[in-house]
Amino acid sequence: MLELLAISKSFPGVKALDAVSLQFQPGQIHALVGENGAGKSTAIKIIAGIYQPDAGQIIYNGQPLHFRNYRDSLERGIDIVNQEIQVIPNASVAENIMLDKMITRGRSGIIRWRAVNTVAERYMKMVDLRVHPATKMRALSAAQKQLAQIAKALAADARVLLLDEPTSCLTEHEAGNLFHILRQLKSDGRTIIFVSHKFEEVFALCDKVSVLRDGKCVGTRDIAGLSRDELIRMMIGRECVAERFGRLDADHTREALRVDHLTRAGKANDISFTLYHGEILGFYGLVGSGRTELARILIGEDQPDTGTICVKAQPTRIRSVADALGRCRIGYVTENRKEEGLFLKSPVCTNITVTIWRNIINAFTRRISRPKETAAAQSMVRDLSIRTTGLGQHVEDLSGGNQQKVSLAKWLAADCDILIIDEPTVGVDVGAKEQIHRLIWDLAKVRGKSIILISSDMPEIIKLASRILVFKDQRIIGQVDGVDDGSKPYEQISTAIGEHLA
Ligand SMILES: Nc1ncnc2c1ncn2[C@@H]1O[C@H](COP(=O)(O)OP(=O)(O)OP(=O)(O)O)[C@@H](O)[C@H]1O
Ligand SMILES: [Mg+2]
Repeated sequence: MLELLAISKSFPGVKALDAVSLQFQPGQIHALVGENGAGKSTAIKIIAGIYQPDAGQIIYNGQPLHFRNYRDSLERGIDIVNQEIQVIPNASVAENIMLDKMITRGRSGIIRWRAVNTVAERYMKMVDLRVHPATKMRALSAAQKQLAQIAKALAADARVLLLDEPTSCLTEHEAGNLFHILRQLKSDGRTIIFVSHKFEEVFALCDKVSVLRDGKCVGTRDIAGLSRDELIRMMIGRECVAERFGRLDADHTREALRVDHLTRAGKANDISFTLYHGEILGFYGLVGSGRTELARILIGEDQPDTGTICVKAQPTRIRSVADALGRCRIGYVTENRKEEGLFLKSPVCTNITVTIWRNIINAFTRRISRPKETAAAQSMVRDLSIRTTGLGQHVEDLSGGNQQKVSLAKWLAADCDILIIDEPTVGVDVGAKEQIHRLIWDLAKVRGKSIILISSDMPEIIKLASRILVFKDQRIIGQVDGVDDGSKPYEQISTAIGEHLA
C-alpha cells in the first residue's frame, strides 16, 4: 500500500499542498480530482520524486520513502505517465521503453539491438502499440506516446502507475483502449492513480476518488454509490448547472467569413461554409478530423492550394497570423497552449496583453502604457478567475487549467471580430468550464462577435453552438441546423451528429 502522510508543499506565494494524507490500495484505480490549481499534479509529482515535499512522509509497503529524484521512485516501482517529461524524441520507441535495461552482450557492454527490439515488442504488444520498435519516438501520435510510456512502466515492472490527465489529447477510441489496458493492470494488482477532469471517465473507470480543494484533501469516497452532483459539490463547494443558454441572434444577412471550396493537400478537402455575424459555428469531429488544419489556413499559418476566403464579403488572401489579426481581425485560441499559445517564461500580464500592445502604446513616447496594460490584464484575471499569485507570476508556474485560461484571456483582450476557439476547455475544471462557456456565449450574444468553436466535447458544442458542422477526414460531412433555437432536445442533436459520423 502507498500512503501519503500530512504532505505539504509550497511554491513562492502558494501552498500547493497543505498536510494532505491519502491512501492508495493495490488492485485499485484511484481518481484524484479537484479544481484547477487544487494541487493534483503537485501531489503526483511528489509521489514520482520530481518534487520533494516540505513536510510529511510517503510510506510504501510499510517503509518511509525519500526520493531525491524521479529515478529513485522508478527504482522503487513507481512510474509516471505524463505528457511533459521523460520522452526522448530522437530515440526509437524500443530505446525509450528499454532505457533502464539495455540488453548487452556479456561484459563487452555492446548493446544487442535485436534483443532490445524483441523484448520491447513484448511490452508494446501488452499495451497494443502497433508500430515498429525502431520507429522514432517523435513520429508517434500523442496516444501512441502514452502507450509507449505505459509500456516503459511495464518494462520497469512498475507497481504504482501515475497518470496525470492521460486522455486530454486522445480520441474516444484511443481513450477506450487505454482504459482497457488500465483495467488489466489493475486486475494484475497494481496501484493506479488517475488525475482527470472528466467525470464520465472517473465514474466508468475508477474504484475510489479523492477530492483536493485549495491544497487540502476534502475527502475520499468509493465510486460505487457516489453521485455526480455529490462529487461536484465536494470539488467546488456548490452545485453546478449545465443547461443550454438559448438562442443567439446570428444575423444571416451579414457574412463574417465565407469559405468556398478551400483545399490544401492532406489538410483540407473542398471546404465550403459561411460564418455569420453574432454566430457560434461549431466544428465537431474527432481529434484528427481536420478542424485544426482548417483553422491554420484561416489564420494565414498555411496557404490553401485552391479555393477562396472572404472576410466581411471581401475576397482576401490571409498572408500570416499578424495579417489575420491586424487586417482581418481574426484571432485563434490554440488548443496547443504549451507549444504555440503562451510565452511560458513570461509573466501572466505580458501573456494577456501581448495581442493589444499596439493599442496601448503611447503615441508620443512609443512606450507601452503600464497602467493600461495592468488594468487590461487585471480585468481578464478577474473575469476568468485565473488563479495566480499576481500578474507577475510566470505562466509556466500556473496549473494546467489556469494556463488554458490565460491563453483564452489573451485573445479575448485582443477584441477580434472573428474568433476561432480550439478546444477551449480541455484540462479545465467543471466550475471554470461553466465560466468559459458563459464567456464565449456572451462574446457572440452581447458583443456580436462571430465565433468558430472547435470541440470534441459533444455536450459543450451543443450547449454553445447555433449550427454544427461535422468533420471527418479533412471534409465537412454533415451539418446540424437550429441547435440554439430550442426546437430540438439534446438527444436529437447528438443523434443527428452521430448519424453523420456513422
Ligand atoms: N513549479 C511551480 N512553481 C510555482 N508554483 C507552482 C509550481 N507548480 C505548481 N504551482 C502552483 O501550485 C498550485 C497547484 O498546482 P497544480 O499544478 O498541482 O494544480 P492541479 O490541481 O494539477 O491543477 P490543473 O487541474 O489546472 O492541472 C497552483 O497554484 C500552481 O500555480
Ligand atoms: Mg495539473
